[in-house]
Amino acid sequence: MTENNHTPDLVEAEHHTVQDDPKVVTRRWILMGIGALLNGVVGIAVAVPVVRYILGPIRKKGAYNSWISLGSATQFPAGETRLATYENPFNRPWDGETAKVACWVRNIDGQKFQVFAVNCAHLGCPVRWFPQSSLFMCPCHGGAYYQDGSRASGPPERGLFEYDYKLVRGELHIDAGQMPTLANPASPNSPGEQSANGGLTVITNAPGGCGSCQKS
Ligand code: FES
Repeated sequence: MTENNHTPDLVEAEHHTVQDDPKVVTRRWILMGIGALLNGVVGIAVAVPVVRYILGPIRKKGAYNSWISLGSATQFPAGETRLATYENPFNRPWDGETAKVACWVRNIDGQKFQVFAVNCAHLGCPVRWFPQSSLFMCPCHGGAYYQDGSRASGPPERGLFEYDYKLVRGELHIDAGQMPTLANPASPNSPGEQSANGGLTVITNAPGGCGSCQKS
């Protein structure tokens, strides 16, 4: 009976003792702080990829635009198609030679150009230009393209991909931030559309390559 009367008092006294002990309180807060910190770190680690995935499509639009000079336009004579290379703007120090990207530059008439991705629109093999036949030929499966990049024959279902370009003080610049592909066409504008941009002539290319260009 006596024990029963004293037990609650003893428990309460112990409780007060523990509650009032600054060491115990401090330790508890430290552990709670560490727990909260770890929860926060794990939460951020989980949330960052999810947010990046969700915002990825928004970031893609124009986020990688990077105009690169291919050098003086005079190195591409009118009426000829020549190979040019540029350095991928998004390379890493260890990329070495692989950072160099090739493209075909066609000077149509001294004023207008076409710049084609070197990769075949079928499975990406590098195409070669044959001036004798005025054709781009793919060595892998026999795909062929006319000089304006439109499909001539073989497995490719479309023409060569084209870069947007502009002439700046006599130099040919291409929008090389991203390789033009089906998923990432060079421009949403119509073929050959011209627009003024700060006094520079910018010629944008068709998203479907030059399938609608005139063959000559
Ligand atoms: S990769 Fe060019 S035709 Fe197949």
